[in-house]
Amino acid sequence: KMKTDMNFKALLTLIIAIIIFGCSPEKSQNENFTSSLLQFDQQIESIISNMTLEEKVNMLHGKTMFTSAGVERLGIADMKYADGPFGIREELQAHGWMPLGWTKDSATFFPTGSALAATWSPELAYEYGKGMAREARIRGKDMILGPAINIQRIPTGGRTYEYLSEDPLLSSQLSVGYTKGAQDNGAAVCLKHYALNNQENNRGTVDVIVGERAMREIYLPPFKAAVREADAYGVMAAYNKVNGWWCAENNNLLNEILRKEWGFAGMVISDWGGTHSTVESVEHGLNVEMPDSKYLGQALLDSLNAGVVSEKVIDLRVREILRVRLAIKPVPEEEANQVMTSQPEQQRIAYNVAAKSIVLLKNNGILPIDLSRKPTIAVIGDNAVRPMATGGVGAGVKALYEVSPLEGLRNKIGDKAKIVYAQGYVPVVLDYARMFGGKSDEEIAKEDAERERQNKKLNEEAIELAAKADIVLFMGGDNRAVETEGSDRKDIFLPSGQDELIQKLAKANPNIVTVLVSGAPNDLNEVNPLSKALVLSWFNGSEGGNALADVLVGNISPSGRLPFTLPVKLEDSPAYALGNYPQGQKKGDVFVGLVEETNKEITGENKGSDMNDPDKAYYSEEMLVGYRWFDTRNIEVMYPFGYGLTYTTFEYSALNTDAEKYESKDVISLSFSLMNTGDMASDEVVQAYVHRVNPSVEWPEKELKAFSRVNVQPGEEKTVTLEIPVEKLRYWDEINHDWKDDLCDIELQVGSSANDILLKKQVALGD
Ligand code: BGC
Repeated sequence: KMKTDMNFKALLTLIIAIIIFGCSPEKSQNENFTSSLLQFDQQIESIISNMTLEEKVNMLHGKTMFTSAGVERLGIADMKYADGPFGIREELQAHGWMPLGWTKDSATFFPTGSALAATWSPELAYEYGKGMAREARIRGKDMILGPAINIQRIPTGGRTYEYLSEDPLLSSQLSVGYTKGAQDNGAAVCLKHYALNNQENNRGTVDVIVGERAMREIYLPPFKAAVREADAYGVMAAYNKVNGWWCAENNNLLNEILRKEWGFAGMVISDWGGTHSTVESVEHGLNVEMPDSKYLGQALLDSLNAGVVSEKVIDLRVREILRVRLAIKPVPEEEANQVMTSQPEQQRIAYNVAAKSIVLLKNNGILPIDLSRKPTIAVIGDNAVRPMATGGVGAGVKALYEVSPLEGLRNKIGDKAKIVYAQGYVPVVLDYARMFGGKSDEEIAKEDAERERQNKKLNEEAIELAAKADIVLFMGGDNRAVETEGSDRKDIFLPSGQDELIQKLAKANPNIVTVLVSGAPNDLNEVNPLSKALVLSWFNGSEGGNALADVLVGNISPSGRLPFTLPVKLEDSPAYALGNYPQGQKKGDVFVGLVEETNKEITGENKGSDMNDPDKAYYSEEMLVGYRWFDTRNIEVMYPFGYGLTYTTFEYSALNTDAEKYESKDVISLSFSLMNTGDMASDEVVQAYVHRVNPSVEWPEKELKAFSRVNVQPGEEKTVTLEIPVEKLRYWDEINHDWKDDLCDIELQVGSSANDILLKKQVALGD
């Protein structure tokens, strides 16, 4: 009986899909994706036919800070949203940002986006999404405001730590994992921030001028993948504009691409305060204005009454919301918030992610720490004790607990070593008064002088401790006040004089292991040569300190990989090198006709092409984002994309493919042998890149097209198979506005990072 039911449902869904999409020219692009949300449409029609116009409009804007209205009279519950993306946010005032001080809303702090990405594991991303959903449900929430999946375009981007990667494939696979994990466990996701929210400075005014090809090949894939491969129910429109139009009223992004082309059937909400119009927003694809009702409240009713907006459009927007509402069962009031939000299953997930995210960048043999002679370990640095669940602008997590690196070491080492600690430097802390001009120059100068004095004192204490220790664990990096929503970093140097401190420490004791607790790239020119080992350990969640200690003492092998390139210096990175960022400082880079081309299509209010307009971000590096830029332009990097060491060694051999020539519908299956030649079990993240040998259009030097995390025991040899559908090698043809094959010879490059290619094989593409 169940089978018949399912078939009937599937048939019904298909019929509805045909009705909705059947006449659209994008039909062929939808053929292999039909959202499960369409199954509710019949039921929804009868709900809508019973609703008044006021009830409909009432659903299209915020009711409180984190809810939007249902229809009580018809038994339709309100939608309850929860930030997102790396832990369920504590309960806030209905109409403000102040916490309510509940006692049961302490959540699990999950490692932030770049840490998750460093696992290179869609399976762990699934677990992560599942963990987020379970805690959302405990709190009675319907939709998680996450995952945050914009491409890390600039190393200084304020939300780099929240976002996943500079690479679209890695970002896509993790977005799919997170989305499935969350939605399989009863909470909808809200993919954010759609689209091209790649910087925080001017995020509320900036107009991203981007070419179609870069948009399709680099920036949109994570969103598309989460929609089509994981049936994501929600999307958040970003604050910025794209090619002249605010994201919350961007017809091209919302109606044309997201809905018509990709087949998205769910709801779009604006970022908080990111709605700018009534008629355009609702007609161009926005469902809910959050958190207010300035544009989609009375103003919308007035527009309807004046005949400027039709009720049909309103019905469409209401239907899209109701689909999600019917797919996600509301948590009954009396069942929500009965237990503490953070639960052991989720804490375990947080540990597992953290343990596989830690990246070992350098090791001269000092790691794992030898505890056999009960060493004295000097732990130095504010980041050894600083909580990272909060501390910046934007969503933080009221964490039930957070194991700091120092606590983690104490937990894991016990009395096997003598651990001493010094703060070492004065940390940057969030100072709203300073940020918003609430302090005079005099006050600031006085504060800075005092800071300087404090810093000197802390440096001296640390040096004294270091001199007497066997090994120094320097725990520096950024913190949440340094990397923060709402503003980008000015540079990527280690804050608080850490470079100077480490120079002094190295003079006192050369056995330095540096651990960077950062969510984004830092300049490592000073720190790298002075460190015998270098570890990147992220804003790594409630269990971050335990995971780090397990790696440092060798209970587990490190196995995280860089999800972004660490440049030698900031100015080498693409948007900086071309003068595209910061805005208003163009160095004469030519957008090779693209500016004119793109500007032709700009129909929003921000027309024209002033290259030095601070409110326009030109993406003239096009597809050359991250390693694609460094590789293609032959620019040396500090550590490449995909890089990370383990405590063992691996040998790659015998790369083979299942054919020598592939047609456009084929899947390239490549296999090779991976042997653990060291003496410790470890995961290895294997990566397959594609280089085009004789292409007909321009391409980056190579692109990641498949990867896998493989566990190999010492002495064990495994055959690894990776698959690359030829379809995924297409480019976006800006003339015909469609995907197109470039059937040329390609070189498959297999290795352990973008710069460590160990095996190569050429195959042909052609029909
Ligand atoms: C952020 C979103 C967040 C929202 C609600 C905005 O400022 O950009 O990511 O979900 O606030 O807290």
